[in-house]
Amino acid sequence: MADDDPGILFTQPDRNLAMELVRATEAAAIRAFPFIGRGDKNGADGAAVDAMRKFLGTVDFAGTIVIGEGEKDQAPMLFNGEVVGNGRGPECDIAVDPIDGTSLTAAGRSNAISMIAAADRGSMLDASSVFYMDKIVTDASGIGVIDIRKPIGENIRALAKAKGKAVDELLIGVLDRPRHEKLIDDIRAAGAGTRLMLDGDVAGGINAARYDSRLDMCVGIGGSPEGVATACAIKALGGFIQTMLYPQSDAERERGAAAGLRFDEVYEADDLVKGDNTFFVATGVTDGALVRGVERKGPIIRTESIVLRARSGTIRRVTADHLVQKWLGEDA
Ligand code: FBP
Repeated sequence: MADDDPGILFTQPDRNLAMELVRATEAAAIRAFPFIGRGDKNGADGAAVDAMRKFLGTVDFAGTIVIGEGEKDQAPMLFNGEVVGNGRGPECDIAVDPIDGTSLTAAGRSNAISMIAAADRGSMLDASSVFYMDKIVTDASGIGVIDIRKPIGENIRALAKAKGKAVDELLIGVLDRPRHEKLIDDIRAAGAGTRLMLDGDVAGGINAARYDSRLDMCVGIGGSPEGVATACAIKALGGFIQTMLYPQSDAERERGAAAGLRFDEVYEADDLVKGDNTFFVATGVTDGALVRGVERKGPIIRTESIVLRARSGTIRRVTADHLVQKWLGEDA
């Protein structure tokens, strides 16, 4: 049996790195918990970053952060190019967002998550020179049916047909931003409903690709790093993603072109992250449709996470109870 034969999975168990990485997103979410609804965005992010870094250091792998908190000077930790893990084990590209939804967390609003994506070294697109990309995400029904270059109304009708639903049954997630005013009008004019998201298009994209979610599509312009991380999850979910870079100035376009990025081309899942050895983990910081947020229940802190692995196609939900007392000590 060849090594890449899927059957090998059942005769020769191998490692699900994401089952170890989930400890780092749990830790980040727990550390962000005291900041929920306290109006301190940077405090929440700082606490989550510190915790994630500490836990990543204990995992057997040699990770290089390809998508992190920005450049070294602006982000003292988890910056692009930083090496994480204990260095023993596979070489990986890592995308981290200790909190996707820092404003949501500070305001006490729903849908903030802590996330990490991992893939083979050299497989993730480095889109850091262009801040935004246009994205469209659905479950597998979008494959061969949707084209990001087509008008949204056409894509909505095609998706409805592929799903065997009426157009007015479709629910489309869009970040609530002035730049999306026309997109939102066009979605409604086509007859579909919108779910306007204050922040957090990684969770939005994953919800659009999950078979048991109410959301049928997530569309619009959001962060490029978030797009690459979403692609790692979409591969495990067997869903569909297309993106196009969205530079905001000539200078950004030039920087992107110098980095080898293309502006008139569609980036699909395989262009955003190569191969099927991708992992994605997210832990809820605040309650959301994807995962529940951190909860304090007497002597325990409860976290809920989703753990995805593309090669095996497994989607796990991990609920963990953590003793509060362990998190209060000096070394915790
Ligand atoms: P952060 O919490 O990391 O700031 O990101 C939140 C987010 O909503 C992302 O999910 C999304 O991709 C991006 O910001 C959209 O950017 P903007 O807020 O500038 O429209």
